[in-house]
Amino acid sequence: MSRLVVVSNRVPAPAKGKVHAGGLAVALQAALNARGGLWMGWSGVSSGAREPGAMTIRQEGPITYALTDLSRKDIDEYYAGFANSTLWPLCHYRLDITDYARKDMAGYFRVNRFFARQLGPQLAADDVVWIHDYHLIPLAAELRRMGVKNRIGFFLHIPFPPPDVFFALPVYATILEGLADYDVVGFQTRHDADNFAACIEREGIGSLKERDTIETRGGGRVKAGVFPIGIDTRGFEKMAADAVDNPAVRKIARSLRDREVVVGVDRLDYSKGIPQRMQAFERFLRDNPAYKGRATLLQVTPKSRSDVPHYLDMQREVAELAGRVNGELATLDWTPIRYVNSSINHSILAGLYRLAKVGLVTPMRDGMNLVAKEYIAAQDPADPGVLVLSRFAGAARELQSAILVNPYDTEAVSQAIAQALSLPLAARIERHAAMLRHLRRHDISNWCDAFLDALATTAA
Ligand code: F6P
Repeated sequence: MSRLVVVSNRVPAPAKGKVHAGGLAVALQAALNARGGLWMGWSGVSSGAREPGAMTIRQEGPITYALTDLSRKDIDEYYAGFANSTLWPLCHYRLDITDYARKDMAGYFRVNRFFARQLGPQLAADDVVWIHDYHLIPLAAELRRMGVKNRIGFFLHIPFPPPDVFFALPVYATILEGLADYDVVGFQTRHDADNFAACIEREGIGSLKERDTIETRGGGRVKAGVFPIGIDTRGFEKMAADAVDNPAVRKIARSLRDREVVVGVDRLDYSKGIPQRMQAFERFLRDNPAYKGRATLLQVTPKSRSDVPHYLDMQREVAELAGRVNGELATLDWTPIRYVNSSINHSILAGLYRLAKVGLVTPMRDGMNLVAKEYIAAQDPADPGVLVLSRFAGAARELQSAILVNPYDTEAVSQAIAQALSLPLAARIERHAAMLRHLRRHDISNWCDAFLDALATTAA
């Protein structure tokens, strides 16, 4: 079997036995644990003003980690700049906060070239290369320029916007051509794949030959398929069932007394709709005063990308909002919103999901959202909680038995919380069972196999 080589911007520090929070890292860890292989990416460390030295190679079980540092300038221009101030908001349909600077764009292409130069010498002729996410779109083109002939696939974890949004990016054509350099380009949903195909056709970079196959101007072929990412469903079910006895989870449960828990878990990111969710919860309490003192929103929100200005603004906005709602509604023995700004161990998180009556997952736009899937897997099938899910999360295409909401409609989300809390047991069981069945069939190894099978059947 060929060796699998995975490349992603974020690579968790190798630590045996530890499960890492964050969708992409957890998913890739599971995929690589099952197959073994090389995982290359940024160490998360800055080399300051100096150019980064040679990669650090470490073997941990079946995974060889190849980690590179990045200079301060690289981090500013490539990571905080073009990736997270330009591509991220653009792909989440936020043209209003999409910043663009040529210096950042140049830094993005420079770091991709640097990744290619580091990775190239590590590759054997029959390695299968799988590149992840918006940070590394031009990497295949850079590797091809160096003469690399291996099969190379790309998976986009975030949404792909429609042409009228994407074409606002000054270098949209180069980015599209970069995607057309892969053998397989994978998207989370049909909607994303269609948006990509529409961009390619409108720009004349290629044309759709048959469903999911694009023929490029130069005569090459790209498979542009739909591969909705999953979770380790059985593993998470077990983790959540075991977590019931975890002393930390018991302590949290005691502190919540017998209140109805509504849980939200997100990185602190404007795409996640956290302020809108808090407003909807406030609205729910005002419209359903019987729940005052009886329901608590537990919002777990680790800080994220704090060196990007819009994220700093968000930190302030959310903290102020939680403070205002609590100031206006709290009583001496009840806090309506428990807002926690740190990250939480994965198994404690699984326990929190299980004790929550409602999982409130209401991003304004999201590639997939694995919290929604984890919430379902964590429930007790005999007495499950209810998922309230944004229509604009990729997960909504699969989890149709959730209560689907438009997160821009505060009253609708407030009503959905009330509906979720009053749903009879039989209806809860039926909705949950349908979604769990789907998640068991479409789990992380299924995602990985489907993508790698598609890549294996392309002509190298
Ligand atoms: O899912 C999108 C993503 O950017 C991943 O690539 C990344 O692992 C995660 O969000 C967390 O973001 P960051 O690496 O910027 O902290």
